Amino acid sequence: MPQYGLVMTRETAVAHWERTDLVQTVLEALVAAGKDLDRLGVDDLAATDQFHGGGRPVTIRLAERAGLDRLESSAGSLKVLDVGGGLGGPARVLAAHYGCVVTTVDLTPSYVEVARVLTEKVGLQDRVQHLIGNALDLPFAEDAFDVVWTQNTGMNIADKETLLQGFHRVLRPGGTFAFQEPMAGEGGPLHFPVMWADDISSSFLRPPNEMRDLITRTGFRMRSWDDVSENMATSGMPPPHAPQRIIMGDDRLRLIAAAGQKNLAEGRLVTIHGVFTKI
Ligand SMILES: C[S@@+](CC[C@H](N)C(=O)[O-])C[C@H]1O[C@@H](n2cnc3c(N)ncnc32)[C@H](O)[C@@H]1O
Repeated sequence: MPQYGLVMTRETAVAHWERTDLVQTVLEALVAAGKDLDRLGVDDLAATDQFHGGGRPVTIRLAERAGLDRLESSAGSLKVLDVGGGLGGPARVLAAHYGCVVTTVDLTPSYVEVARVLTEKVGLQDRVQHLIGNALDLPFAEDAFDVVWTQNTGMNIADKETLLQGFHRVLRPGGTFAFQEPMAGEGGPLHFPVMWADDISSSFLRPPNEMRDLITRTGFRMRSWDDVSENMATSGMPPPHAPQRIIMGDDRLRLIAAAGQKNLAEGRLVTIHGVFTKI
């Protein structure tokens, strides 16, 4: 069986991620963690709004690797598109710590709703906007962004050719494409469940060398390529206000964590930080 599957509909993807009453659940979790909802800062959200392995430290790592503090934009602030922006955590970090103006696009309506509420609560609504949309059909003009950013989003997407062509189209020439992406390791097929799929039918990972070649063929020049799999290691359950617990629930998360540890230890799953320039 191939390591990446063939068919997954948009509806299946949304059904996997979507949750009801998510705004209320997230706000209650923040209060239970001792946060004052009337005095929230971006840093107060760090444990709750970064929905990927490695949490906020790896978002910062990728931003540093991409040189976001050094990149220039004709508009003054870097215009960033975060594809699969989730609860908006990475976008708020890029706005608050690197002065970026960020647009996120995400397929899952309840995540976009949470993202908007949290962005408003920390007062970043003038710099960060959140849209519902599909990564495979980005609703933006050519060359619209200085940076295309994505973390842990492509795993559900089989058609990586179309995905990358879309990133290339909306990025200006000389712009930066920065990503964190789980990929298929050499250790064999994944153990399931993983965060993004219950089985192989909705998991679409390709090996790192295939991905690097594909990205290059799409019209990007590589600046850096780092295996950050070790940064994904976990020990024990995250705090109750972590997105993994809020969204997956404890029982399911235990299964995901057990499979994840085996996938990492057996080299079945690798996570890559890549930074490329649009030629
Ligand atoms: C693990 S979460 C990562 C969220 C965010 N990037 C972060 O790191 O905090 C995966 C996200 O990908 C989104 N997603 C999956 N397929 C998508 C697609 N085709 N278009 C847009 N978003 C998608 C999901 O809705 C979910 O928010």
